[in-house]
Amino acid sequence: MGIQITPSILNADFSRLGEEVRRIGSADWVHVDVMDNHFVPNLTFGPTMVEALTRATDLPLDVHLMIEDCDSNAPAYVEAGASSVTFHVEATRAPIRLAREIRAQGARASMALKPATPIEPYEALLPELDMLLVMTVEPGFGGQKFLDLCLPKIRTARDLMRKHGVETWLQVDGGVSLETIERCAEAGADVFVAGSAVYSAEDPDAMVRELRARAEAATS
Ligand code: DX5
Ligand code: ZN
Repeated sequence: MGIQITPSILNADFSRLGEEVRRIGSADWVHVDVMDNHFVPNLTFGPTMVEALTRATDLPLDVHLMIEDCDSNAPAYVEAGASSVTFHVEATRAPIRLAREIRAQGARASMALKPATPIEPYEALLPELDMLLVMTVEPGFGGQKFLDLCLPKIRTARDLMRKHGVETWLQVDGGVSLETIERCAEAGADVFVAGSAVYSAEDPDAMVRELRARAEAATS
């Protein structure tokens, strides 16, 4: 599939999100951070906002659930129009059942790991997933500093995907910028979330193109 850039709208202007998503036409996806003020200490969008965003952009929506009880709550986001739904393994009782349910609904199923959660216990789940998200900050807020300590986990995850012969995408989220994206790409990531890097840039779409070029150069 190659390198994909998925800007997070968490750092966009919430008072005019329709316009904000139309400023990133070169992106592959729009990353939508759903937070419930329980799993993380921040509160953002629900399914109604996801449904509204589908009408504001032609880009597919990559919904990142940072909420408790993903088992019960995730399906509503597929119904709202998400093309990919990521649940945190730390907030899911039955990740295999949930991944199968999301796929059966017609969306891509993705599982996220917080920085302190290892990949090894979940190795056998990889064939059930369309994407694995390795968080590179503690989830909850945009604009945090990239955690280099997550790089070995990206490498391990990529090795395990090769071992299992799966096509699972490997996403990184948190502190991804022109300064850090090469390290992630070299470690094996291929889908890059960038929030503040994109929306604090004067020209967000130019930043999307620069990030893509940097990641492609690092892997060529
Ligand atoms: C953090 C969110 C991220 C956030 C990334 O919990 O999951 O998607 O928006 O923002 P930056 O790129 O600024 O770290
Ligand atoms: Zn996110």
